[in-house]
Amino acid sequence: MTEPSLDRIWTLLLAARGQRDRLREHSPTFGLSFFGDTQPEITGADDANAALVWRGDKFDAGPGLPPEALDFVELYLPVLAAQSEHPVVVGHLGQSIDAQIATRSGDSCYVTGKENLTHLHRMRALCDAIVVGAGTVAADDPRLTTRLVAGPNPVRIVIDTERRLSGNQRIFSDADAETLLVCCADRISHDELGRKLIAAPRQGRGLDLRAVLEALTRRGLHSLFIEGGGVTVSRWMKAGLLDRLQIATAPVIIGAGRPGLSLPASETMRACRRPPYKLFKMGDDILWDFDLRGDTLESSEPSHHRQAPMRLH
Ligand SMILES: NC(=O)c1ccc[n+]([C@@H]2O[C@H](COP(=O)([O-])OP(=O)(O)OC[C@H]3O[C@@H](n4cnc5c(N)ncnc54)[C@H](OP(=O)(O)O)[C@@H]3O)[C@@H](O)[C@H]2O)c1
Repeated sequence: MTEPSLDRIWTLLLAARGQRDRLREHSPTFGLSFFGDTQPEITGADDANAALVWRGDKFDAGPGLPPEALDFVELYLPVLAAQSEHPVVVGHLGQSIDAQIATRSGDSCYVTGKENLTHLHRMRALCDAIVVGAGTVAADDPRLTTRLVAGPNPVRIVIDTERRLSGNQRIFSDADAETLLVCCADRISHDELGRKLIAAPRQGRGLDLRAVLEALTRRGLHSLFIEGGGVTVSRWMKAGLLDRLQIATAPVIIGAGRPGLSLPASETMRACRRPPYKLFKMGDDILWDFDLRGDTLESSEPSHHRQAPMRLH
């Protein structure tokens, strides 16, 4: 896709994010279409010009969407289906071919290339909240904004079970977006209870993430982007709370570093999950977009039908 058409399609996705909640109250289905070079306009779900169609529970590509934009929107439409009753949670890790997300010292700038970085910012812009672990905040002092793309900054959620972070990191004091810290209830004193702190029960070595998800949805945060690190994404995956898992693999070898996914063992290959996926080429990297709600017994057999990666740019 050329740069101007990409910008146009991105405007469409942002409009879908912005209109979804407002329009749903008035009409169970609707379409979004382009008229000239203006902003996308709202139309009927059956309109032949509709580029995106809201079906009541998800957006689909409509007849008015340029065919070359189909792959691009398919990667982003799932998060736009989030609703209060059905939140959508997407995990992402950018890793080396030996499945490391950073070096041993914690350096992760950068594992994947600029196309994947742009993708991260797009996901942030389409999601209500971005979630990271305390280890990431300690190592990177990140900003977690959408500065590479047009679109709103998400609410920033830091999971720090034992509340080990000093609080001096910039996301706790800058004005770019709201930041909420989630930690164990016994790490919050009574007079601290307020809007910026969320208490959750302990579970194993981390928190009860189902309780965290419920607390976030109560605050109107229905689409969550779990952006790292490995410990945090693994905990959401183990809790069965990820709807999608995006793994971007870069052609780099890190050696013993910070691992990506770390999950309970399987005894046999037959017992291993093989969720359905789509491949997206992002510069030199390949992004695997897994649908973790789409597993069936049959999909635990290796597939002989492999998809060619789709180029996003
Ligand atoms: N390539 C990527 O996609 C990507 C994305 C994000 C981050 N990263 C990199 O991944 C690394 C962090 O990931 P991770 O899996 O180790 O952790 P994480 O998932 O970000 O955070 C959770 C872990 O951090 C620990 N932690 C808590 N407070 C800490 C502190 N003050 N200092 C250090 N660790 C603390 C936690 O221990 P307790 O539970 O015991 O408190 C827990 O084990 C960083 O090097 C970051 O640069 C890479």
